Amino acid sequence: MRSLLFVPADSAAKLDKAMASGADALIVDLEDSIVFDRKASARQSAAAFLKQAVAISPRPSILVRVNGLATGLTDSDLDAVVPERPDAIMLPKAEGGASVAHADAKLAVREALSNLPDGHIKLLPIATETAAGLFLAGTFTGASPRLSGLTWGAEDLSSELGASASRDSHGAFLDPYRLARVLCLAAAAAAQVPAIDTVYVDFRDQNGLRRECEEAVRDGFSGKMAIHPAQVPIINEVFTPSRQAIAQARAVIDAFAKEPGTGVVAIGGVMYDRPHLTRAERLMARLAPPRGSTDHSP
Ligand code: COA
Ligand code: MG
Repeated sequence: MRSLLFVPADSAAKLDKAMASGADALIVDLEDSIVFDRKASARQSAAAFLKQAVAISPRPSILVRVNGLATGLTDSDLDAVVPERPDAIMLPKAEGGASVAHADAKLAVREALSNLPDGHIKLLPIATETAAGLFLAGTFTGASPRLSGLTWGAEDLSSELGASASRDSHGAFLDPYRLARVLCLAAAAAAQVPAIDTVYVDFRDQNGLRRECEEAVRDGFSGKMAIHPAQVPIINEVFTPSRQAIAQARAVIDAFAKEPGTGVVAIGGVMYDRPHLTRAERLMARLAPPRGSTDHSP
């Protein structure tokens, strides 16, 4: 999953536009982009969109970002959208594995009520939006088979920390958010799920977005969230492994396959050991499923 585009749930026009954006996934937002007075109508709009969108093929994965567990709004959000079979729920302000187990139980009950198979709807938590969440990042491992990735956010964390900025004057994240980013990456690797990078809010700055995507790929993220359709092609391009990288990964995998039991191979005068094999296998796993495939895991 390379690009995940946020769309406010109360905008039918943006929801339609998002379907044609080329994003691998849409995140229909019931949380921060919806003011309190419009939560109820946004739920209805999200459900109506899901009803027609999940039947379309091919289509992007469709996630719904519900309101966090501490808001008291999560149950009504799930009641509205689960019957319409979203592929996953994005859980904001998650605080470690316990919050995933909590959301898992809420989903299991509603899946049963909607005659959906147990575990049909996956979970993608935002792992670093609260200070407590940072300390619990290591507890996602094994929390639920629904866990399909981890992502991170800076804005809510900066507000909770009492900070006045999350980026420096050049646009680079400041230390608290660099820590959050690394914790997300490590927590995802420990839980063996993809890490998804946070949004780049300056949506007219394509060079800044590209640079941040390249840094994310370099560090091990599999994809990035977007807030504007114009960000999608850049994210898709940068997170698609290059031909050269694919050929290199194939060569490493083939070399190890030819010598089962070996811990080290040589290709073109360069040594490759087991960590190189793992990296090559990861890269092959990142190759996007063809559009129209039935794999809608986020
Ligand atoms: N999804 C789908 N369509 C979008 C979109 C999105 N996230 N963001 C913009 N568009 C559409 C606009 O509606 C507009 O469509 P039109 O040409 O048919 O009128 C077109 O893309 C160009 O938009 P533009 O004028 O450049 O931006 P804007 O001022 O309309 O919107 C935002 C700017 C930030 C309000 C908008 O991008 C947005 O709503 N983003 C998502 C916000 C969100 O969900 N935040 C929560 C997560 S951080
Ligand atoms: Mg938020």
